[in-house]
Amino acid sequence: MKKILLTGDRPTGALHLGHYVGSLQNRVEMQTQFETYILIADIQAYTDNHHQPELIKKHILEVLADYLAVGIDPAHSSICLQSHMKGLFELTQYLSNLTSFDQLKHNPTLKIELEQKKINNLSFISYPVSQAADILGFRANCVPVGADQSPILELTNRLGQSFNKQYKMDLFPKIKGEYSVCSRLMGIDGHNKMSKSLNNAIFLKDSIDEVKKKVLKMYTDPLHLKVEDPGHLENNVVAYYLDIFDPDKQGLAQLKDKYVAGGIADIVLKNRLIEVLEAFISPIRDKRLQLSNNPDYLLSVLKTGTDAGNNKVEDTMKIVRNIFCLKL
Ligand code: TRP
Repeated sequence: MKKILLTGDRPTGALHLGHYVGSLQNRVEMQTQFETYILIADIQAYTDNHHQPELIKKHILEVLADYLAVGIDPAHSSICLQSHMKGLFELTQYLSNLTSFDQLKHNPTLKIELEQKKINNLSFISYPVSQAADILGFRANCVPVGADQSPILELTNRLGQSFNKQYKMDLFPKIKGEYSVCSRLMGIDGHNKMSKSLNNAIFLKDSIDEVKKKVLKMYTDPLHLKVEDPGHLENNVVAYYLDIFDPDKQGLAQLKDKYVAGGIADIVLKNRLIEVLEAFISPIRDKRLQLSNNPDYLLSVLKTGTDAGNNKVEDTMKIVRNIFCLKL
């Protein structure tokens, strides 16, 4: 029997290159080896976006189109919508009984987010418990996420094991975090992790003109004033992206050698990057457009995936309800 893989995203915007190298690529590779579930975590998105439900609902379909466009295949991956999985809400409540406020306050992921976002509503503070319920509800074995989520996975394991111990059963397996090699793609500003809110992202749906504009704005080498000056590759944002995305490694090595020796203008590097990114993004963009024109298909994928997810979670919840709920 295949092991269970669960992962997810908050639908707060269209996906970008950072999502691709940090998780999507990995999911496409893993989806055939595992029984795969991908959760569109709209309920989690509302913990800090409750003032804009229309936007979140719109982004659910955007994220779904991004998934399918990069090669997540509904024949292998069930894509589930969290708000339609009531079992996860119930499990969140039972796991909250086992979570202390201190445990959350000292959770490094949450601590950073609370400082950055300056919000402290209860649902946000307890979102790691809801995420633990997502993972344990599916009884997932493998959870591929960015390295910044590792404290949440630790909490999940702690809660799963406490539950097993307290109710004397072996319900929840120990989960294994699968941290992507490149979970922090730098943004086009060259300083911060790529993120929509920092305005430093290249989106999978960007037009060629948007890609060009973003690459032309990138910082290369401030010491490279004349073409014949030697260029530097350290802190050179264009070179950083070429290293990750240029499939012609040999050609790139030659280009970089020439740049370092002097005699190559920054624009040559930028033009190569535009070419590389366009070759990468254009098939995704085309597929995405085709999918966006067919919202009925997108909704049917989500419905089928959510039904499959609910089957899985309800198996867990039958056992959990048997512990807590008086039969009527
Ligand atoms: N917190 C994750 C993110 O921000 C999204 C998420 C919600 C998730 N539930 C999950 C990830 C369960 C893995 C497993 O991207």
